[in-house]
Amino acid sequence: MAKVLVTGGTGQVGGFVCRELANRGHEVVVYDVNPNMQNLVGVRNVKVVNGDTVDIEELMGAIRRSRATHLVHLAAMVVIESKERPAKASKVNCIGMVNVLEAGRILDLERIVFASSITVYGGPKAYPAMVVDEDDFPQCPADPYSVTKFMNEKYGEYYHDAYGLDLLCLRIAAAWGPGRYTGYTGQFNSFVRDVATGKSAKFPEDFAYSGAKLRWLYVKDVARAFVHGIEVEEKSIKRSVYNLGNNEPFKAADVVEGLTNILPDSVIGFEETREPTRISAGIAGTSGLDVECGRLYEDLGFREELGLRGGLRDMVQFERSKAGLPPIGAWAGRKGR
Ligand SMILES: NC(=O)c1ccc[n+]([C@@H]2O[C@H](COP(=O)([O-])OP(=O)(O)OC[C@H]3O[C@@H](n4cnc5c(N)ncnc54)[C@H](O)[C@@H]3O)[C@@H](O)[C@H]2O)c1
Repeated sequence: MAKVLVTGGTGQVGGFVCRELANRGHEVVVYDVNPNMQNLVGVRNVKVVNGDTVDIEELMGAIRRSRATHLVHLAAMVVIESKERPAKASKVNCIGMVNVLEAGRILDLERIVFASSITVYGGPKAYPAMVVDEDDFPQCPADPYSVTKFMNEKYGEYYHDAYGLDLLCLRIAAAWGPGRYTGYTGQFNSFVRDVATGKSAKFPEDFAYSGAKLRWLYVKDVARAFVHGIEVEEKSIKRSVYNLGNNEPFKAADVVEGLTNILPDSVIGFEETREPTRISAGIAGTSGLDVECGRLYEDLGFREELGLRGGLRDMVQFERSKAGLPPIGAWAGRKGR
């Protein structure tokens, strides 16, 4: 079992990573500048340190005191926050990443698994085909967040090559699910939450392009991938970066169909669009540029557990329970007994 320090461990992904780590018997220390304890409700044996990745002394102190052997680096400013405050995003996402790598080098951490994003690809214009894998360049990150993620990947390669640091970068397609209702992917989660709780809801236009190839993973599957990244044998890791998404892309229509199967009475406004929006045209997946994710499954032996349908069912139950509504499925028939 490992002692794992998780930066950004009370964020949307971080909360589920900590839960999965603890369930699998690892010791967990969260390192977060603004801990949101809501995302750790019910997680046992987790220690929370209030700290900033931009401060290397503070970070190294937390690693030393906790005697962490492994680190999952998730702390970051995400897409919309980074557009609004690019200087702060450079500091948090770039200096924060270099500090994590320096701490890993100096304190001899056994492995660091960190999050990047498929937004490093940019839109399809740069590529000869409508599909990309981990070897495809040039990558054309189109906004401040994606530029910082590109830089993170390159720094990771440098620390691996120069110092032999055991690193694994997981380039997330999107982590959808409970815990984030604002920002770019938050639109999607809010839509599912509204349908789950019986409100009429409109499918977000940013994801409704008929040619979109969504490789999004349910957040619990994303969390399992990060924990798998901590546990997998070093000899299986054949590259510094793996795209993290589902093996088979889905479309907006599949989401609407899945939700309608679970909640047949739902009122969903859905119109597939013939073009991506201005924002989604610059992002892999929503623009129609398909991101191959097979290597993660082949090399690392990762398997998603819930997928789209399992994820929808899980999120519907979660949102209904949070709203005080009766569960769906096997228990729904007991209503009123
Ligand atoms: N959620 C997605 O769909 C998605 C997609 C691609 C990549 N990612 C990446 O995955 C990681 C986690 O994303 P998320 O959606 O959970 O984000 P989030 O915003 O929900 O969580 C980020 C967490 O990091 C913490 N944090 C921010 N700055 C910090 C600092 N300087 N020091 C310590 N903690 C700090 C925040 O308080 C927050 O708890 C990020 O690196 C993000 O770029 C997420």
